Amino acid sequence: MKNIDSNSHVKGTSIYLDDIPVRAGTLYALAYDSSCAHARIKKVDYSTAENYPGVIKIITHKDIPGQNQIGGIFPDEPLLAENDIHFWGMPIALIIAESEYIARKAKKLIKIEVEELPVITDPREAREKGHLIFPPRTFQMGNMDSAWDQCEYILEGRADSNGQEHLYIETQGAYAFPMENGSIRISSSTQGPTAVQKTVARVLGIPMHKIEVDVTRLGGGFGGKEDQATAWAVMVALAAQILNRPVKYAVHRMDDMRMTGKRHPYSSDYKIGLSKDLKIQAYEVTFHQNAGAAADLSPAVMERTLYHATNTYFVPNVKATAYCCKTNLPPNTAFRGFGGPQGMFVIESAIQKAANHIGIKTRDIQAANLLKEKDEFPYGQIVKKCEATNAWYATLEKYNIKELEEEIDSFNKNNVNSKKGLAIMPICFGISFTNTPMNNARALVHIYQDGSVGISTGGVEMGQGLNTKMVQVAMHELSLSSDRIKIETTNTTRVANTSPSAASATADLNGKALEIACAKLRERLLECASNYLNIDLVELNLKDQVLYHNDTKTDLSWDQLVTIALADRVCLTENGHYATPLINFDKSIEKGHPFAYHVYGTAIIAVTLDCIRGRYEFDYVKLVHDFGLSMNYAVDIGQIEGGLVQGIGWMTMEELLYNDNGKLLSNALSTYKIPDIYSVPKIVDIESLNSEGHELAIRKSKAVGEPPLMYGIGAYFAIQNAIKAFNSNYKNSFDAPFTPEKVLMALYS
Ligand code: MTE
Ligand code: HPA
Ligand code: MOS
Repeated sequence: MKNIDSNSHVKGTSIYLDDIPVRAGTLYALAYDSSCAHARIKKVDYSTAENYPGVIKIITHKDIPGQNQIGGIFPDEPLLAENDIHFWGMPIALIIAESEYIARKAKKLIKIEVEELPVITDPREAREKGHLIFPPRTFQMGNMDSAWDQCEYILEGRADSNGQEHLYIETQGAYAFPMENGSIRISSSTQGPTAVQKTVARVLGIPMHKIEVDVTRLGGGFGGKEDQATAWAVMVALAAQILNRPVKYAVHRMDDMRMTGKRHPYSSDYKIGLSKDLKIQAYEVTFHQNAGAAADLSPAVMERTLYHATNTYFVPNVKATAYCCKTNLPPNTAFRGFGGPQGMFVIESAIQKAANHIGIKTRDIQAANLLKEKDEFPYGQIVKKCEATNAWYATLEKYNIKELEEEIDSFNKNNVNSKKGLAIMPICFGISFTNTPMNNARALVHIYQDGSVGISTGGVEMGQGLNTKMVQVAMHELSLSSDRIKIETTNTTRVANTSPSAASATADLNGKALEIACAKLRERLLECASNYLNIDLVELNLKDQVLYHNDTKTDLSWDQLVTIALADRVCLTENGHYATPLINFDKSIEKGHPFAYHVYGTAIIAVTLDCIRGRYEFDYVKLVHDFGLSMNYAVDIGQIEGGLVQGIGWMTMEELLYNDNGKLLSNALSTYKIPDIYSVPKIVDIESLNSEGHELAIRKSKAVGEPPLMYGIGAYFAIQNAIKAFNSNYKNSFDAPFTPEKVLMALYS
């Protein structure tokens, strides 16, 4: 089935926040944000700006009727700065004007006096000085003390990975409309409508039921709108409440880049020990997560780093510790993979280093340590099936790894200034919110009098194809064709108390809730038919919008059944609630069964290096991915291609740069390079792992949103291998992204 949005996307008629027709009387908001990263505010003079023609009001923290607090996990993040500035770009006030243009003019007229304070941008420095957002956590298995004795090879090192700008095509934004009796309706470009509703209630000092949040779709979120869409929605709601006028804020790209948090940079130390037969006996790792100036989602992201510290390998003795370090960067946040990629980069670095030291292929170590059935993850969950091993061997066999390696060797023998490198990247990603209580969802289904169906779920469409999958679920359960089904906007008044659309679990959670609601309606219609025809319920069935008696078609169509049910005064509205069974986690011992299931896969990636210039191109990525039983292969392939390229971008070219004063230097598309059509691998071959799916995946179609990003990690090691073919003196260093500048230095180091 085609993506249901493809038609309107191509025509340009899909509706995003900035497409909502502007109501008469609408005002525009613009944040006045700090131009330093750490300071005490001595005085702010708004008088000239306030008097600028067309400026309606400048809102400060003093105008906030409720709490000046938007922190989701910890209450450590004011909406508007009071006395202190903690990062460059921190909102201090909100300018409300007749137009955005006027607001920008006025912004320049605000004068501020501050006392600057020392700025910390490095997570290791933050840890040394004791600036932690919360105490460190450690995941442990086996016995570290005795483990090192069994090791023939022990290697230590450091691995750093940088942050990543989300660069959703649609920037952050929201539009608030005052309704009657102090209620407010907000259109928000958010992955978390309930988080917006809850935080608006807190800041405005009104109950949640007075706030309705509505989301049509996002032009991308990638985690950047899981928590950080909230601030903008709260700003417009606050202004709408104070001024009783509609207020809109569509954030300018450069403001968005400067003010919002990104993927967390990590700086990590590892120690890996292997026995003679290349089994990893021990792995010790310390992660320094650069959280930025407030908690945001950092504690949850850090947790997922610990879960994925050993990637897809079984390691009997593990000690993984993570520090959530408070720095003066904008609070970093969710980004596709949610800390998992950062953890996986470190163990892959350790393996590469060990292979180099021993003088063998990296893949010999990878292959010797893949997870097998009944192996235990360091957090206590037991491996159910051998998909890690299966995906690995399927990839190596399907694409004939020996032949690929020979091609590379022969190319390297015959070329002096151009070298190729190849790497293999196996992945394993746990599906479920790591915070168990978040794993629930609801769906609301109406069958209308003409037999058409309207569906609301708690899930947000952000380009990942969720709505298409939801249509497919309903089609299957109700036997309807796709044109009879409409997916409504995501709205807190129709579906309440939702978890954000995140953790790759949106289709699973909301789809299962939808299945439950649809199954109830289907059952009810069949009961009506049973009464009407006087036939036993178990002999009736729905197929292709027609009632069947055993295997024979009856005269009753879906539409007629609906008419009969309505005549019987039967309710044709249902609500479905789903909560993932079985999962649990005990933080006091850091053990449990946190994930519904895992997604596996293995990718081969090859690169050609221009050894004069340090530039490179990816020749191909060939992978076998664990789709389960994909319910929409086209959508899922799209997710793999997108995630892969996003991962390659993170590992190779996307270079976030802050100066020592905490100012973002890579603050525009001219200074921050993301993959374009020329930088995607020339060939991307994707094959499906032969697997039966998983009961907890929607229609056994496994979650696919985040896992493919981690195939991109292979890009780093492919480049390293190409460098080694040119420069035998090159010593591995692990410091992503591997930009052409760094590659050039490495070629001649
Ligand atoms: N794909 C597109 N096109 N746009 C996005 O914003 N977000 C990713 C992934 N794929 C994203 C995307 C992230 S971070 C997640 S968690 C999942 O989609 C969320 O959707 P799902 O839970 O339905 O997979
Ligand atoms: N993944 C993504 N988003 C989240 C998670 C998670 O595990 N927990 C809280 N938000
Ligand atoms: Mo995705 S980082 O869980 O929004």
